[in-house]
Amino acid sequence: MKKLLVTGGAGFIGANFVHYWMQHYPSDKVVVIDALTYAGNIANLASVKDNQNFTFVHGDICDQNLIETLLTEHDIDTVVHFAAESHVDRSITGPDAFIETNILGTYALLKAAKIVWLDAPKAEGKEPKENHRFHHVSTDEVYGTLSATDPAFTEDTAYAPNSPYSASKAASDHLVRAYHHTYGLNVTTSNCSNNYGPYHFPEKLIPLVITNILHNKSLPIYGDGDKLEIGYM
Ligand SMILES: NC(=O)c1ccc[n+]([C@@H]2O[C@H](COP(=O)([O-])OP(=O)(O)OC[C@H]3O[C@@H](n4cnc5c(N)ncnc54)[C@H](O)[C@@H]3O)[C@@H](O)[C@H]2O)c1
Repeated sequence: MKKLLVTGGAGFIGANFVHYWMQHYPSDKVVVIDALTYAGNIANLASVKDNQNFTFVHGDICDQNLIETLLTEHDIDTVVHFAAESHVDRSITGPDAFIETNILGTYALLKAAKIVWLDAPKAEGKEPKENHRFHHVSTDEVYGTLSATDPAFTEDTAYAPNSPYSASKAASDHLVRAYHHTYGLNVTTSNCSNNYGPYHFPEKLIPLVITNILHNKSLPIYGDGDKLEIGYM
């Protein structure tokens, strides 16, 4: 049985992940921490809220003490880290929140995981927590922008973030990597492309276009309409 701490579980992908996980691994325990920013919606978790293996905590990932408490009290072995400021356009008009949550929030999570999984057992003369894992959800936007004829990004593509959003995600990727190489934390990072589907926040491209069509409103075109000039999450 696994015990997961899911950050940002009231957001778009996090909520889909929680539903998937609880359906496929019903005996696992899932604790969600979410600050319920404009992008978080507790109603996204309505169908699991009464499950005895589910706990919701309204909190900020930057609160390292809270994270340490959750990791310890729930005996968490797996962190799945979705929480982020995720909208590129907002990062251009107000980058501060992106630096705070995406970089400092990830750093607080890493510090808490290191203390609870590695340092605390060692201080008691025990082995580090077995089978722990910190999974960091990042974005392909850390690799920059592709032109129509460029080959696809791979894991070996050099980082070239172009927006405050992707720069903050790139910084968090580097911190996650460093915590593995420096301290031995078991980490994985995924750099997915754009997702769409249920619970998608309506400011994002696909739900925005569909909602505008349904309300007979005009559709936003970016650049010359040939490609998206600003990456849309
Ligand atoms: N949506 C995409 O297409 C896409 C593509 C690639 C990568 N990603 C990455 O996947 C992850 C999830 O994306 P999403 O689209 O579901 O995002 P989202 O904006 O829908 O959800 C983010 C969630 O994080 C929460 N949150 C924000 N700041 C917080 C904080 N300080 N403490 C606790 N919770 C906080 C919000 O309340 C929200 O519930 C992000 O890390 C994003 O960078 C998303």
